[in-house]
Amino acid sequence: MSEKSINLDIIGSIKTPWVTPENMPIQPTGAKTVKGTIVLNENYVNGLKNLEEFSHIILIYQLHLIKEPQLEVIPFMDTEPKGIFATRSPKRPNKLGISIVEIERIDENKIHILDVDMMNNSPLLDIKPFFEDFDNRFNTKKGWLAKKTNIDKENFKSDKRFK
Ligand SMILES: C[S@@+](CC[C@H](N)C(=O)[O-])C[C@H]1O[C@@H](n2cnc3c(N)ncnc32)[C@H](O)[C@@H]1O
Repeated sequence: MSEKSINLDIIGSIKTPWVTPENMPIQPTGAKTVKGTIVLNENYVNGLKNLEEFSHIILIYQLHLIKEPQLEVIPFMDTEPKGIFATRSPKRPNKLGISIVEIERIDENKIHILDVDMMNNSPLLDIKPFFEDFDNRFNTKKGWLAKKTNIDKENFKSDKRFK
């Protein structure tokens, strides 16, 4: 481990129907109603108090099947290379993914969720409540994605480019 590394505890695991990175949703907006389950490690269960008061949560997890990062990538919705930090592509340093998902119900250490766009068994690092007043932004600059108005984002699927 380099001097600049940090240690993070895996707090649980995200169970989803996605077992191969191809032909799956690239964002929760393209995974509407797809069910998943967070299995939280038992020692974190007290941290779930009050979470059922929220409809949506932000998940931070590892895109664990990515082997090597790549600083320039051709993202799923484009044909030209972009800097990794100007994309949501999975081949990033630290392999961190974020997804806003809907809570269906919470049973002890299991959070049943909808709109899952991560692969089965992705290691979970954090859960935060989604709160519009903090998290929504309007009139933002949309970069290269602004031109993607003709893409059907609800049905767009991944391919094998980051396998
Ligand atoms: C474009 S990334 C976006 C993930 C997250 N919503 C984000 O914005 O950080 C989603 C794609 O990464 C790949 N992927 C998802 N989970 C993964 C995992 N655990 N390991 C490797 N690749 C994964 C799949 O190809 C999926 O379609």
